[in-house]
Amino acid sequence: MASLRSRILHFSCLAVVLYVGMLWSWKNTGFPAKRRYGENRSHEGMITGRGPTLRSDLSPSFTTNQASCDGPVTNFVFIKVHKTGSGSTFLVLARFGRNHGMTICYPIHDKHRRLSYNSPNLDRSACQPSLGNYTLLINHAIMNKTAMDRLMAPGTRYIGIVRHPLEHFRSVFFYENQPAKDSVNPLGKYLDSKVNYKPGRTGMGKLGKPVCQQKNFQAYTLGFPRKLFGSRKKSVLEETLRTVGSWYSIVLITEYWEESLVLLRRTFCWTMYDILHTTRRLHVQRDPKKSAPLTDKQIETHRKITPIDYLIYDYFNRTFWERTTKEGPEFWDEVVYFKTLNLQVNNHCTLSQGDKVFPSGKWSREFLADSTFCEELDWTTTQWNSALLLQLERQNEEISRKQAQIESE
Ligand SMILES: *[C@@H]1O[C@H](CO)[C@@H](O)[C@H](O)[C@H]1NC(C)=O
Ligand SMILES: *[C@@H]1O[C@H](CO)[C@@H](O)[C@H](O)[C@H]1NC(C)=O
Ligand SMILES: *[C@@H]1O[C@H](CO)[C@@H](O)[C@H](O)[C@H]1NC(C)=O
Ligand SMILES: *[C@@H]1O[C@H](CO)[C@@H](O)[C@H](O)[C@H]1NC(C)=O
Repeated sequence: MASLRSRILHFSCLAVVLYVGMLWSWKNTGFPAKRRYGENRSHEGMITGRGPTLRSDLSPSFTTNQASCDGPVTNFVFIKVHKTGSGSTFLVLARFGRNHGMTICYPIHDKHRRLSYNSPNLDRSACQPSLGNYTLLINHAIMNKTAMDRLMAPGTRYIGIVRHPLEHFRSVFFYENQPAKDSVNPLGKYLDSKVNYKPGRTGMGKLGKPVCQQKNFQAYTLGFPRKLFGSRKKSVLEETLRTVGSWYSIVLITEYWEESLVLLRRTFCWTMYDILHTTRRLHVQRDPKKSAPLTDKQIETHRKITPIDYLIYDYFNRTFWERTTKEGPEFWDEVVYFKTLNLQVNNHCTLSQGDKVFPSGKWSREFLADSTFCEELDWTTTQWNSALLLQLERQNEEISRKQAQIESE
């Protein structure tokens, strides 16, 4: 017990953030990417990567429910919240960005590839220089709409992600603490030790530093103003929630991740090909210690520690379900279709790596899954970052070449 407590003492807020960053970057060292896959050129001379290989034009009804679509959204920011499954989302969005010739704001100053952390301020000096306009921001950054609107090409859209606060906390806790091998329910014990926790006026209380993975961390990352963390004024909090909500075109819900991808596809006029992803990362929590049930009292304590995260989760979960209801019952047919297709694609890639044509269906166009496609489905964050950086460099070369041409004319 004493040793459990002493280990828990290390669970201080800022340390968690740094530690997570370090581990993350340690896991992603090295650069095995095959760069040539990042390359291709469209008729405009820009690199556009590999789009789906299509054998036929549109299938008759694949644009269901997309009457207002003028083409895919190719200018967006993804607020990558730690420990929400945002890594898997990153892979999907990076692949999309490469395939659509997007220009990444690639973090240059931080070896953990974060753009802003303790200070949610951001300008072009944070990114690898571009001669064009940035249209893609998907590495860790704290939401700051004013700064990001200024940084990105005009009309940029925002994607967020939230996870149930208790699941988020479990994930943070067991990632940081490999503690208490002898304990049946270390998280419950930890919460018991905080039972008398009183949020301070700023909501930070004694749990530590301003930036902290266990207290209102998701809300902080998504741009909820810190000065309101301690507020009890319902009307102020609700108005702020609506403001924060209005910044985002969509906020994905980790618990309904694949459903979220389908809603994203519809919202951004993307194809189903665009949201295909590896199923290897979707592992279920099997360690009983990690998923040990908590008492009502422990859950209540957790709510007290991170009240704004609960508020924001309930808000975005509710609006998510309102939106899926508005999409109509076909939405759920599409989700089933998507999950099945994605499994088939993964099975193909695991088993054969050869070429396979997936025929068009109600919501998808015909496409070819070849060995390159399969290889890329397994790419890591580092590989995708490198491909996007390469794309940026090629775009810069292209723009300089054109400028030189104009000057010499
Ligand atoms: C690039 O595009 C051309 C023509 O569209 C195609 O033949 C070639 O295979 C593509 N290369 C890669 C690496 O995707
Ligand atoms: C960047 O955006 C501005 C403002 O929309 C535009 O005038 C400019 O041409 C863009 N630059 C490039 C290289 O596309
Ligand atoms: C957001 O960015 C703007 C513009 O750079 C800056 O003035 C402001 O202080 C930032 N907001 C926060 C909360 O840091
Ligand atoms: C999200 O909202 C739906 C609909 O209100 C509800 O049924 C569900 O339990 C919520 N999910 C979580 C994880 O709270």
